[in-house]
Amino acid sequence: MPNIKLKKLTKKFISINEATKGEIIVAVNDVSLEIKKYSYNTLLGPSGCGKTTLLRMISGLEEPTSGKVFFGRKDITNMPTQERNIGFVFQSYSLFPHMDVWHNVSYGPMIRNNFSQKTKNYIHEVLKMVRLDDRANAYPNELSGGMQQRVAVARAIATKSPLMLLDEPLGALDARIGTALRYDLMKLIKEYKLTAIHVTHNQEEAMTISDNIIMMKRGKVVQSGSPKEIYDKPNSIFAAYFLGRCNFFRCEMVDKNHVRFQDAVIELPKNNSKKKVVLGVRSEKIHIDSAVRKENIKGTIEFVNFLGDKWQYIIRLFDGTEVNALKRTPSDLRSGDKVSINFFSDNIFIFDEPKDFEKEKAV
Ligand SMILES: Nc1ncnc2c1ncn2[C@@H]1O[C@H](COP(=O)(O)OP(=O)(O)O)[C@@H](O)[C@H]1O
Ligand SMILES: [Mg+2]
Repeated sequence: MPNIKLKKLTKKFISINEATKGEIIVAVNDVSLEIKKYSYNTLLGPSGCGKTTLLRMISGLEEPTSGKVFFGRKDITNMPTQERNIGFVFQSYSLFPHMDVWHNVSYGPMIRNNFSQKTKNYIHEVLKMVRLDDRANAYPNELSGGMQQRVAVARAIATKSPLMLLDEPLGALDARIGTALRYDLMKLIKEYKLTAIHVTHNQEEAMTISDNIIMMKRGKVVQSGSPKEIYDKPNSIFAAYFLGRCNFFRCEMVDKNHVRFQDAVIELPKNNSKKKVVLGVRSEKIHIDSAVRKENIKGTIEFVNFLGDKWQYIIRLFDGTEVNALKRTPSDLRSGDKVSINFFSDNIFIFDEPKDFEKEKAV
């Protein structure tokens, strides 16, 4: 399995929607990236940002308008799907309803006339890996959604394709089952030394499952890296907003390493030459102080929500900004309390002030 390279991949559609008929939709816009072999990658972004279209171009199900797809050095842009040797898993399990689990999973090898004992042993092994070896004779409608999706995963693995493309594979499952299946997927991909590209709009799913997250917005890749890299160093307001919880403060620069927000003067972790900036601070990095001081950022607690393992405080600042703070330990703070908030310089992200702040966050 070589690395996969995408070079300036673009896909345009012509809208057939009544309201926008004939307009050109740029579903994927000039995307270049590299997928390392044996890695688990997620395409993460809001609905409609082009994830499925990008995946379909890698699979050969969609022809790019321009750009190229490479497996290693080989240009496969025009290679038919069936020659690309890819395993697929979709949100809608797409099992054969009239075949039992065994026949669904062995379908790929069998249509290639591979009925050897070795293949049968392999199918058994794969069924065991997905914990369905005791359900080989069951039909899809006798299985739960989670089990059906494990059959679909086993079927994709049984094809022995080194590349696995998964489009929202956990999207149809309820949260607890979907979470359990995440770990099955991770284990299988590593165990069989596969390369996975997994589409999701669920940030928590992307965080837990990925070696590498590719964040998309409106057809473009806005950032890619390990979950920790993106969480700790988001390169845009969108990336900070879409992965994890982040609060934003729109500030005026005072001098090259200080900004003003309300009456507070905040020291920046590094110099900046802009006139205005937006500071980003993760929710767990916000300190709430019940003593209200003039020189701090001030607001009122609107809600205190108990989340089981932590408490969430929604604070309305005097200029209307909403701040979301997370605390591991209980406090005496109640809704209606006047408070001030602060945070360490080291925990600040600095972003350029966008032309339209709300649009920047919006998907
Ligand atoms: N076959 C198609 N014809 C016209 N527009 C399409 C087609 N497929 C996707 N699109 C449009 O392309 C954009 C990206 O879609 P898609 O790749 O499905 O996004 P995602 O998977 O991130 O939700 C959307 O605006 C969608 O409406
Ligand atoms: Mg999609």
